[in-house]
Amino acid sequence: MNAPEPMLNQPMPHVMNTYGRLPMALSHGRGCWVWDTDGKRYLDALGGIAVNTLGHAHPKLVPALQEQIAKLIHTSNYYQVPLQEQLAAKLCALSGLNAAFFCNSGLEANEGALKIARKYGHDKGIERPEVIVYERAFHGRSIATLSATGNPKVQKGFEPLVEGFVRVPLNDLAAVEKVASSNPNVVAVFLETIQGEGGINAARWEYLQGLRRICDERGWLLMLDEVQCGIGRTGKWFAHQWAGIQPDVMPLAKGLGSGVPIGAIVVGPKAVNVLGPGNHGTTFGGNPLAMRAGVETLRIMEEEGLLANAAAVGEVLTGALRSGLAAEIADGRVKDIRGAGLMIGVELDRPCGVLLGRAAEAGLLISVTADSVIRLVPSLIMTAEEAQQVAALLVPLVRDFLAQG
Ligand SMILES: Cc1ncc(COP(=O)(O)O)c(C=O)c1O
Repeated sequence: MNAPEPMLNQPMPHVMNTYGRLPMALSHGRGCWVWDTDGKRYLDALGGIAVNTLGHAHPKLVPALQEQIAKLIHTSNYYQVPLQEQLAAKLCALSGLNAAFFCNSGLEANEGALKIARKYGHDKGIERPEVIVYERAFHGRSIATLSATGNPKVQKGFEPLVEGFVRVPLNDLAAVEKVASSNPNVVAVFLETIQGEGGINAARWEYLQGLRRICDERGWLLMLDEVQCGIGRTGKWFAHQWAGIQPDVMPLAKGLGSGVPIGAIVVGPKAVNVLGPGNHGTTFGGNPLAMRAGVETLRIMEEEGLLANAAAVGEVLTGALRSGLAAEIADGRVKDIRGAGLMIGVELDRPCGVLLGRAAEAGLLISVTADSVIRLVPSLIMTAEEAQQVAALLVPLVRDFLAQG
C-alpha cells in the first residue's frame, strides 16, 4: 500500500480516549448507506455493531419517532407506561416467555439477569450462588458483566473481579455435567446463543438442548444472552429458536430499538416472580421514546418480512464470500466463514484489525473482532444486491491483505 494506513488512533481531545477511532465522521445515512462529513459514501455492513435493524433513516421509523418525541420522551417508572406493556406483550408473544423488564443497554440487561440468578439462588436457600459462564464470552463492561466475560483483555486492570462464576468451554456438555456433580451452589448457566465479540461462535443446537435438560433436572436457570444475535438477525426472532428450546431468562438490547438505546430482560415462569418491588430499577429504562422505537422496530420487521430477508441475504453474502475467497479457504489462510443469517464471521489465519481502516477507505464499514475475525452484522433490510456489493468490496481487500504475507 502506498497511501498511509488509516490509523485507529484518532482521539477527540475532550472525549475520554477509550476507543480506537478512525479519522472520519459520519454525517447521515439512508438504508444501508452512510455518508461522511466530506460527502464520501460507504456501504454499511456493520449496522452500528448489530444495532441499526432497519438501516438508517427508515421512512416508517422516522415519522413514528418524531411523533413520539413531540408527545412524550420520558416520564418515570412511578407511573404506568402503556408502551412498556405493548412492547413487553409483543416480546412475550414472539419468545413464548412471560414478562419483560426494560433497561437501556446490553450490559444492563445482563447485569439484571445476574441479579435474577443470585436472587433465585437466595430464594432457594443458597447463600453463595454461582453461575456457569463461558470461555470467549462477552457480556459487557460493568464490573459484574466483565467478570462474566471470558476475555482477559476486557478484565485486565479492573480486578478484583466479581466472584461467583465458574467458567467452562463452549459446546462441551461433559464440562457442565462435571460442574453440576461437584458444585451445589450453581444456580444458572449464562451464555450467548452465538458469541459475537468472541468471534461468531455458535452454541450447537444439541448443546443448547442438553443445557436445557440439565437446567430442568437441576432447577437451574438457563440464561441466554441474545443481545447481539437476537431480534431477527439469524432469521428467527431469537437465535435459540433454531434449537427448539426456550430460556428462562433472555437479555436483549442492540437491534431492539433500531438505534435508540434500549435493553430488556425477558423471563419465563421460573424467573418471573424472582424480583419484586424495590429489587431492581433504572431511571431511563422503559421510557416512552425507547419503547416506541422497540414497538415500531418489531412491527416494521414483521411488515417487511425481515426475518426471511436476513436468512436469504445472509446466504447470498456468505455464498459470495465463500466463492470469492475459495483459493484462500483451500490453502487455509481463510480458516472459516461462519454464522447464521446476517451475523457472519470470516476468520483469517492472522490478526487483521488493519482491515477496518482499509475497508473504510474502500467505502465499506465492517468490524474485526477476536483479533482475526472479520465481522459482518449489517441492517436486516440489506438487499441481495447490496450483499453482493459487500462481497465485491471485501474480497479484494482480504486477498491483498493475505497476499502481503
Ligand atoms: C452478547 C453481548 N452482550 C452484551 C453486550 C453489551 O452490550 P452494551 O454494549 O449495550 O452494554 C454486547 C455488546 O457487544 C454483546 O455483544
